[in-house]
Amino acid sequence: MLETKEIFGRSESKTKKLGTKGCSYIGKNVSYPGGEYEEMGKAYLDIVSPHCMLIVGKRGTGKSYTLGVIAEGFARLKEKYSNNLSLVLIDTMSVFHSLKKENTNESEIELMDNFDIEPKSWKEDVKILVPEAAIKKARQNGEELHFDEILKIALSRVEVHEWLELFDLEITSSTGTLLSRVITELKKKGNFSFEDIYRRISDEGEVEESTKNSLKTLFEMIQKLDIFSKAGMDETMVEGGKITVLDISHLGRLGDYELRSLIVSIFAREQMAKRTLYTTVEMQAQAGLGEKEGVESITEEYPIVYMLIDEAHLFLPSEGTTLSTEPLLDWIKLGRHPGLSLIMATQEPSALHASAIKQSDMIIAHNMTAKGDLDALKLAKQSYMKEGLDEVVADMEFKRGLAMIFDDKRRELQMCRIRPRHTLHTGVDASALPPEERF
Ligand SMILES: Nc1ncnc2c1ncn2[C@@H]1O[C@H](COP(=O)(O)OP(=O)(O)OP(=O)(O)O)[C@@H](O)[C@H]1O
Ligand SMILES: [Mg+2]
Repeated sequence: MLETKEIFGRSESKTKKLGTKGCSYIGKNVSYPGGEYEEMGKAYLDIVSPHCMLIVGKRGTGKSYTLGVIAEGFARLKEKYSNNLSLVLIDTMSVFHSLKKENTNESEIELMDNFDIEPKSWKEDVKILVPEAAIKKARQNGEELHFDEILKIALSRVEVHEWLELFDLEITSSTGTLLSRVITELKKKGNFSFEDIYRRISDEGEVEESTKNSLKTLFEMIQKLDIFSKAGMDETMVEGGKITVLDISHLGRLGDYELRSLIVSIFAREQMAKRTLYTTVEMQAQAGLGEKEGVESITEEYPIVYMLIDEAHLFLPSEGTTLSTEPLLDWIKLGRHPGLSLIMATQEPSALHASAIKQSDMIIAHNMTAKGDLDALKLAKQSYMKEGLDEVVADMEFKRGLAMIFDDKRRELQMCRIRPRHTLHTGVDASALPPEERF
């Protein structure tokens, strides 16, 4: 019998033309003929066009796991597709390092036959960036962290308004005004160091010493965090065919500054500017206004970007704002054209900005039982809600990886069992049991 294939996130006409080209294999379709659970045919996800997707579900239901499955889909793509794509994983729990390790979990390996896959890893395609503070801390405890590059940001990449928000300063305050003047001047000359900042503050004429000192103290605290430097890192976060894991799990609210949001903000903002520029150049070339050769060389430099964010409510909350709120909303609202895609995972859809839910073209929902969260989804995707949701929700309790998929392209609710990972998932719950007694 010919195996059926469902492709999520792709229109019927495009599916007819392309089949599963440029798709990530995510699992099996599930249906309930005669009320009985049945897995039938393979499920795929389009990952070569722009999307805004959400993965939701309560604690421990497989959200991070599914993000890993989708990331593996990028690694599995043929080079002619993957070279035009770059994947950046915002890792808030250090769970994506193990994309470099093949799966050794016995119970997951047992499931693999059914899904037609085997353990595999992509060492060369995955790049792990870790902040220096985490590496130093591990060394103090006699441990060595594995990483490919130290995460360092050039000071010149931070905008005045981001410093102001990070330090919780008003632009109209004396310290805020001084900061704005100093950084604006320094940015004109390109890269600059912390010493350049201190020198420039000291050189300011008509400013009270106490104001100068308080601004210096703020930058001294930032300097100690080892995240910023004059030149930053050589590595670009975006590279065609590569998966970059940006491990910001160790930053947290270091020294009371919301550094995680700042890093996401800088990345999202810069990519928006770069991809918009590229798209303009490309359109000019198509209109016969530009140099064709130029466009071809830029394509390699500016691949289409997918950003995967775990615990997305931290960066784009429903109430209040963070430094990354505006840049991420820009991706959500304007990202289609320049080719900027977001895949966000969250435990609580109601804690995530309403635009992320409304604008998402696909929602993958793992076990959802909280009324507020189901209501948040229903509100956004009312038109696909079906009868019999209760039995589906009940099955989700005991079948790992079972998910409801709301797909705007198909305008209906589909069930899917997400496949096991090729690579190891390290986000397992902490346990006091010895390893041989865990399952
Ligand atoms: N598709 C799947 N196939 C097999 N096992 C799975 C699958 N999805 C999840 N699991 C199992 O469920 C566990 C929990 O998954 P995961 O860490 O992704 O949860 P989570 O939703 O991200 O939780 P949290 O909200 O606490 O971060 C995993 O350790 C894994 O063992
Ligand atoms: Mg998780």
